[in-house]
Amino acid sequence: MMDFRDLAAARYSCRKFKPEPVEDNKIADILNAAKLAPTAKNGQPQKIWVLKSKEALEKINSVCKCIFGAPVVFVVGYDRERDWKNPLMPPYHSGETDAAIVCTHMMLEACDIGLGSCWVGFFSADEVKKALGLPENVTVTALLPVGYPDAEPSERHTLYRDDPEIVEYM
Ligand SMILES: Cc1cc2nc3c(=O)[nH]c(=O)nc-3n(C[C@H](O)[C@H](O)[C@H](O)COP(=O)(O)O)c2cc1C
Repeated sequence: MMDFRDLAAARYSCRKFKPEPVEDNKIADILNAAKLAPTAKNGQPQKIWVLKSKEALEKINSVCKCIFGAPVVFVVGYDRERDWKNPLMPPYHSGETDAAIVCTHMMLEACDIGLGSCWVGFFSADEVKKALGLPENVTVTALLPVGYPDAEPSERHTLYRDDPEIVEYM
């Protein structure tokens, strides 16, 4: 298990995976990390589909170009009927944020147990829902292809804007 700083530095977007499958206990570890994520008012609106059958992987590959040969793909979304609606800031609701924190936990856990992952947002949620037959009340936030890495980080991985552009002290 890595120290948090080492883990945050070690994670990168992996865009090529070895064909070997991911063990069920590692999938369970990733799902457990998802469960531990904080959500607004502890609403836990997240929904996660684990795609590992040939049929499911074919379906997701048919609607997304960024699966990169991963043997497992997590589809992460949220139930719009379960997320928190902020009464002070309508129409804000927390589902997208909740699902993003869940997915971040999953990425970091994957890295900690020797797996690569890539957060993928380049898809049409409607096409993904249709291809997989997902329920109407769910919004899909991210796809997370996961597997044993077969690629190094891209050049973009180490392009950081300077702190003063991003951080302001008041
Ligand atoms: C919201 C979001 C959407 C992303 N969508 C994609 C995507 O569709 N395809 C892809 O290859 N990478 C995608 N990425 C990965 C980013 O390009 C990557 O995180 C960034 O370039 C930094 O590189 P690193 O993750 O290796 O540090 C996405 C990342 C985030 C946070």
